[in-house]
Amino acid sequence: MEAKQLKFQQVNEKKGVYGLFVLIKSFFPYIEYSSQELEKMVLDKNHFYFLAKLNGPTIGFLHLKAEKEVENKIENNLEKGPANENSLLKLCGMAVLEEFRKKGLGSKVLQKAVEFAKEKNFKKIFLYVHPKNEAAKNLYKKNCFVCVSHSAIEINKELVEKWERLL
Ligand SMILES: CC(C)(COP(=O)(O)OP(=O)(O)OC[C@H]1O[C@@H](n2cnc3c(N)ncnc32)[C@H](O)[C@@H]1OP(=O)(O)O)[C@@H](O)C(=O)NCCC(=O)NCCS
Repeated sequence: MEAKQLKFQQVNEKKGVYGLFVLIKSFFPYIEYSSQELEKMVLDKNHFYFLAKLNGPTIGFLHLKAEKEVENKIENNLEKGPANENSLLKLCGMAVLEEFRKKGLGSKVLQKAVEFAKEKNFKKIFLYVHPKNEAAKNLYKKNCFVCVSHSAIEINKELVEKWERLL
């Protein structure tokens, strides 16, 4: 029932950046960027931030980034034109407040990412996840993502998995 009342609000202007920063920091205290750097990303046309709101209050967020794969190198996408067969959407981050978890809301947030990617004509969504983050990995598996590499890149000196979903 609750999942039906979930709405998404895009944050794409200065207003709202500080609140978004506090929210992201509460989920991921180890992030290294400042609120000023977050502001730059919010205003960058390759980044997409959404607040997930349940009957008003914010209960989670979603951060996506447009990228392009050219000769196995990842580049920014939108400034080089509209999405095409090389266009990838990176799911940089998502989270749901602890007291609202295990109610299907994480799946709704992830579905928002998939709908957005389809609308904008991206061909693939990909993400990196810590191998021990079973909750996130189960969420991705349940929503048709597959693990394509168990040791894709290092984040904070730890190897992380790469998962993706073709659209
Ligand atoms: C990952 C996260 C977004 C899941 O949100 P959620 O609202 O609990 O997700 P849902 O209720 O939609 O659950 C969907 C599926 O995810 C899996 N899942 C969710 N929580 C789980 C847990 N604690 N342990 C194992 N699997 C879990 C289950 O497969 C679940 O399906 P089921 O309920 O049919 O078993 C949430 O745990 C979270 O915010 N974690 C911290 C931030 C994070 O790790 N983000 C992802 C990496 S950036």
